[in-house]
Amino acid sequence: MLIAAIESSCDENSVAVMRDGRLLAVHTRTQTIHQQFGGVVPELAGRSHLELVDPLTQSALESAGVGVHDLDLFAATVGPGLIGSLLVGASYARGLATALAKPFRGINHVEAHLWSGELEGDPIELPFLVLLVSGGHSLLIEVEDLRHYRVLGTTLDDALGEAYDKVGKLVGLKFPAGADVDRIAASGNRKSFPFPTPLPDASFNFSFSGLKTAFLYKLRAMSDGDKAAVVPDLLASFQEAALTSVIMKMRRAVEEVRPRALVVAGGVAANSSLRAKVSDLGGEFGIPCRFPALKFCGDNAAMIAYLCHKLESAGIADPPAVVRPQWSLDALPARSHAS
Ligand code: KG4
Ligand code: ZN
Repeated sequence: MLIAAIESSCDENSVAVMRDGRLLAVHTRTQTIHQQFGGVVPELAGRSHLELVDPLTQSALESAGVGVHDLDLFAATVGPGLIGSLLVGASYARGLATALAKPFRGINHVEAHLWSGELEGDPIELPFLVLLVSGGHSLLIEVEDLRHYRVLGTTLDDALGEAYDKVGKLVGLKFPAGADVDRIAASGNRKSFPFPTPLPDASFNFSFSGLKTAFLYKLRAMSDGDKAAVVPDLLASFQEAALTSVIMKMRRAVEEVRPRALVVAGGVAANSSLRAKVSDLGGEFGIPCRFPALKFCGDNAAMIAYLCHKLESAGIADPPAVVRPQWSLDALPARSHAS
């Protein structure tokens, strides 16, 4: 089965072509227009998707060496995400499907991230634990099987990537700041500023806004001259507190769920320190870890195509969905099978 999939839920426009679960091409463009505003501007994201979706689809098909008439099925992210952005990708894919009399499938973006660890390797042994951390999500989820998910924890305020972006902004870094914070923190001393570990309670939930505020107060108390010298230490200390909290929650989840594998997905999965800490955790419990390649960590259409392939292979056909800007995993359709 030859699938074309589109991802346009936020500021990445991505098109993938997949045959029988094997990725033939994925073309992803991250919109840069938002940098000057320090965050994603929904209206501008939608307009940019409008410009990108058709040329990106053409180039992905060309790279895959297939024509539009060869495609068996069209898929697109239909939620959660920004309504205007979702509408562009989903309407485009649905339009093609209708014109070519082929099926269209609406895919849940978060569910697609859960399976992104399989894009480059064998199926992951079940149950596995996923830490999904991006600019919009911080979730700890147990995957028991396809369509059997248990959300263990979420963030009570900012997402982890959002916290990276906000502290980065405070020290003058460009949006999105996560990768720069990661790089600069590597040269700092993580013990210089012992920030309290956020939300050290027994729940699996996260909270990062208090840490961001503590960071702000520490910065405000310094003279401009001091600030420049200690930015790497400050960022390293912020990262240490944030990731200590993440690993603390993950460790408890490992003890409760006893998963067969750990997966880290979402844009923050690119973080070197997080990868090292999760690897250590996996090593301690003898559990293998999967870190998707960088191009599959962030938002991308390969994961949309792959989930679509998995659902088709399992005979799961969801009722047709218009876009759903808010669509939690708990609200996914039950495993209704195609007749
Ligand atoms: O998944 P993603 O591409 O888009 C969504 O947010 O949905 O994730 C982007 C987020 C941004 O907050 C960015 O700053 C963060 O991932 N990020 C990182 C790193 N690379 C990207 N955060 C920490 N360390 C990194 N190396
Ligand atoms: Zn995402």
